[in-house]
Amino acid sequence: MRNRFSCLLLSLLSLVSLSSHAQRLPQTVKPEHYTLKLTPDLKSATFTGKESIDAVLSEPASTITLNSAEIKFLNVAASFDGKSIPAKVTEDASKQQAKFDFAQKIPAGKIKLEISYTGILNNELRGFYLSKTAKRNYAVTQFESTDARRAFPCFDEPAFKATFDITLVVDKGDTAISNTNVVKDEPLPDAARHAVTFAVTPRMSTYLVVFLVGDFQCLSGSSDGVPIRACATPDQVQYGAFALSAAEYVLHYYNTYFGIKYPMPKLDMIAIPDFEAGAMENFGAITYRETDLLLDSKHASVGAQRRVGLVVAHEMAHQWFGDMVTMQWWDNVWLNEGFANWMENKPIEAWKPEWNMTQEVIGGTQDTLDLDAQHITRTIRAKADTPDEINEMFDGISYGKAGAVLLMVENYLGEETFRQGVHKYLAAHLYSNATAEDFWSAQTEVSHKPVDKIMDSFVSQAGEPLLTFGSIDGSVLPVEQQRFFLNAKNKPETAETWTIPVCFKILGNTSDGNSGSDGNSSKEKCEILSASRQSLTSPPASFLFANAKGKGYYRTSYPDEIYRKLVQHAANDLSPEERLSLLGDTWALMQAGKSTVAAYLDLVAAIDNDSSPEVIDSVRASLNAIDSQIVSTPEERKQLSAWVRVHFAPRYKKIGSPQPGEAPSQRELRAELLLLAAGLGDDQESISEARTITEHSLADPSSVENTLAGTALGIAARNGDGALFNQLQKASTTAPNPQSRAEALHALALFRDPALEKRALDYAVSGQVRNQDAAGFLASEIRGRDTRNLAWQYVQDNWDKVTAQLTEFGGAYIVGATGSFCSADRVDEVTNFFAQHKVAASARTLARARDQINDCVDLRKAQEANLKSWLSKQQP
Ligand code: BES
Ligand code: ZN
Repeated sequence: MRNRFSCLLLSLLSLVSLSSHAQRLPQTVKPEHYTLKLTPDLKSATFTGKESIDAVLSEPASTITLNSAEIKFLNVAASFDGKSIPAKVTEDASKQQAKFDFAQKIPAGKIKLEISYTGILNNELRGFYLSKTAKRNYAVTQFESTDARRAFPCFDEPAFKATFDITLVVDKGDTAISNTNVVKDEPLPDAARHAVTFAVTPRMSTYLVVFLVGDFQCLSGSSDGVPIRACATPDQVQYGAFALSAAEYVLHYYNTYFGIKYPMPKLDMIAIPDFEAGAMENFGAITYRETDLLLDSKHASVGAQRRVGLVVAHEMAHQWFGDMVTMQWWDNVWLNEGFANWMENKPIEAWKPEWNMTQEVIGGTQDTLDLDAQHITRTIRAKADTPDEINEMFDGISYGKAGAVLLMVENYLGEETFRQGVHKYLAAHLYSNATAEDFWSAQTEVSHKPVDKIMDSFVSQAGEPLLTFGSIDGSVLPVEQQRFFLNAKNKPETAETWTIPVCFKILGNTSDGNSGSDGNSSKEKCEILSASRQSLTSPPASFLFANAKGKGYYRTSYPDEIYRKLVQHAANDLSPEERLSLLGDTWALMQAGKSTVAAYLDLVAAIDNDSSPEVIDSVRASLNAIDSQIVSTPEERKQLSAWVRVHFAPRYKKIGSPQPGEAPSQRELRAELLLLAAGLGDDQESISEARTITEHSLADPSSVENTLAGTALGIAARNGDGALFNQLQKASTTAPNPQSRAEALHALALFRDPALEKRALDYAVSGQVRNQDAAGFLASEIRGRDTRNLAWQYVQDNWDKVTAQLTEFGGAYIVGATGSFCSADRVDEVTNFFAQHKVAASARTLARARDQINDCVDLRKAQEANLKSWLSKQQP
């Protein structure tokens, strides 16, 4: 009986796995080399293709299956042993595959597939697509994750690496850019077009191929002998200088760090007017959305500069992690994205130390820890087989969590040891593929430390540990670990444990007399925690902080006597990163019912004079969350507002107006304080000052400091009238540089006057806003406390217009934004709406959004009374 049952179960299981693997190609045919000649027609939005694929059959076959989508086959044949036989083509649109059937068996060994076909230049921002400016059309590509098959039939999986020989036939006067340098450029007999041929690429995955056609102009530079260009449409090319100098710095930095030279003959970076993602790491020719590559250095905010620097460094890191060494399959996409996310900060920190990258990073870790403490989360490595499942992998877990885990391990091993492990891993898999085990084995061998155990526990288990410390007893510190959930309702199901490198900062009186009063000279010590209960041997100290530099991927809970001391000493003895971590932990414990909103607010009061903009930003986000999630009466809202005003408006006034030559952190701090005072603080004087700044900056952008101006614009819009709306709507398309256009567009989503909000929503779906921006715009309307009700109703009522604007990832942004509601009836409404209006690649996002709404409802119930009583005690 038992046997029969398990047999049935087994065969059911294999059916399931068969169907989920149905979209995978067989391993019996391996491509080695593609020769591609593509002729796009930008006017009719079509293209023709001639392709030959050199492949090897590991066994005789009469059918060959590969990927294709929206391709019309004209002629297909296979040649081998000096003869050529035609194929009958059967397409399976649902699997995005084409099957070539041959009348005879082809023997094992080398063959050549000859394919001629036509395709369309679509408007969907993926595959081979059209991008438009007022002047003309461009034909460009975006292939990650599974869209190379829309441009050429191919074995479209990351492990089928091959070399590529590409020719683009383009109009006279048009330029063509691809992965490698141009080796031949010849006019066609008709003289109206020319054929541009590129050098053969190294072995690479299909998702990294790129073709760009149109009128691009470039600024040129070089680094370590590699020519680098920053390219854009002709009117924008002047704004590429900043990114070009970032790339020059970063290329040399990476050559040195990796000990493996950048391998391509050149590096191009190209801004594309219509681009769905932020940027894409195509080997040797990185594509960007305009705001992530171009900026006007004279007028850019610190944030905009940092963003461009980071995106450049991120995509360049992928030239090693991703392009030279690629994950075997998408289940391990963190090997690409987590690595790039961890790596991007290094060269930027070295290039611009004044940008305080490490604070940014640790601030980001807090958000990731909150994401991962939701009931619905996933393991870093996770099953992903269909294109939708693969696209859902590009989330806060692959980027944020994987990056944070790498940072924790690096901090534990030491930078140089970790670097050697990285080198060993890369060198072993160059121009090939790798798995998670390949990475942590290399690190384990180099360091002789249990990196495999540490990483396996964080990569293969969902969620994060909470470390609960007992009281210090002499030199013994008891600690327990268990999975942490933001909602107290969720209990750990099994006794999961992690292998955690815990690094302490020893504070208070130590035996060697270090008083710990200087944040930098305090002692640090790391220990491995692996059992669910353990006693750590800490040097005698009256108290300590159990997440030195904030680099550990865990939450901590201390006994009262230690926590109270940490609050007292936070301002002077903890670094900004450690304060971010303490704030994050206290906030998370409050949500989980292990602390109170009063305790969180007392911590804020203890550090209200903080000079780190990142710390103030974290405080601001939490205060806003208290306002929109816990406050339940207008009276309380007034009290909270008054408290914020008292604590932060005087600081804004004291910091004074911008001075030439100020440090970036000072400029950002001023902007953060204004945002707190004029936002939650509702300080009328600050609001009118924001209006004045905005008037000046709209009249003459160079008359105001740009970081402050960007913030002031948002405040002015939030409190703005029809005249300002008109001005910004115009600026969103006509401002000279990409950042100013984007800032104006974002500000349109902040107007609170319902009539203006309605105009903004109409505008977003009018077709005048680029599809790349529409979903983000609507999502920000749905996230806004004062705009969300109207916006969500509007999106539901106008779903047809909304979907007409949605890109591949856009729908998921809107689904995710509904997670900011906070009432039980919204859960049903959101569930029902998206059950009837399916959005691609958003299953997990929807589950998370519902989870988040439920968590918020529970949070309000749990903390409402506590907040009320705390606020009543704050009265002057
Ligand atoms: N590889 C991604 C872009 C991508 C993701 C393309 C998913 C297709 C599907 C790229 O490296 C990336 O991560 N871009 C980020 C910017 C980066 C600085 C975090 C982006 O697009 O936002
Ligand atoms: Zn990336």
